Amino acid sequence: MNNIALITGASTGIGKDLAHIHAENGGDLIVVARSKDKLLALKKEIENKHGNQVMIINKDLSLASSPREVYDEVKAAGLEINYLINNAGFGGLGKFHERAWEADKQMINLNITALTALTRFFLPDFVKRDSGKILNVSSTASYMPGPLQAVYYATKAYVTFFSNAIAE
Ligand SMILES: NC(=O)c1ccc[n+]([C@@H]2O[C@H](COP(=O)([O-])OP(=O)(O)OC[C@H]3O[C@@H](n4cnc5c(N)ncnc54)[C@H](OP(=O)(O)O)[C@@H]3O)[C@@H](O)[C@H]2O)c1
Repeated sequence: MNNIALITGASTGIGKDLAHIHAENGGDLIVVARSKDKLLALKKEIENKHGNQVMIINKDLSLASSPREVYDEVKAAGLEINYLINNAGFGGLGKFHERAWEADKQMINLNITALTALTRFFLPDFVKRDSGKILNVSSTASYMPGPLQAVYYATKAYVTFFSNAIAE
């Protein structure tokens, strides 16, 4: 595999579109999400349409062990990625004190912890090689507080500030 983009949350939405864009530009892919069926369909579609290679990592990134497992799977396959695209994320509506804590905890685990951990695991390889790029998908929500989406907006503020800081 060559010119590899690892994209989290590539099974639908923005992540899936980014996977197609990378493939159209001639790159191979490692796609990560929970929905194995959707990832397999994407792999088939991209391999047929563009002839690129697609590796699937079927993982729930809100689990604490998942980011390390993703990194280890890439290494075990003998691959070096060129682009890390931390795209997987979700929001949720409602008054903070009425929302299910499990849902908000999962949101923080995915939007913040998994993104930070994957960046931490892959960035040293990029620095060592002096090549590689990271795209952390944030939101305009990151620039203001979000009543009724308090945790979501706050997670995106983290993404923007964290990413700008390490870019510097
Ligand atoms: N859509 C917008 O208007 C908008 C605006 C600003 C920012 N964003 C940001 O853009 C990113 C993508 O948004 P989207 O609208 O494309 O979302 P989406 O269509 O809901 O897709 C989310 C992706 O993340 C994956 N995902 C969700 N939970 C996961 C988990 N626990 N482990 C692994 N993967 C998980 C989903 O796959 P599975 O369900 O298969 O796991 C899916 O591939 C998010 O970070 C979002 O905050 C979106």
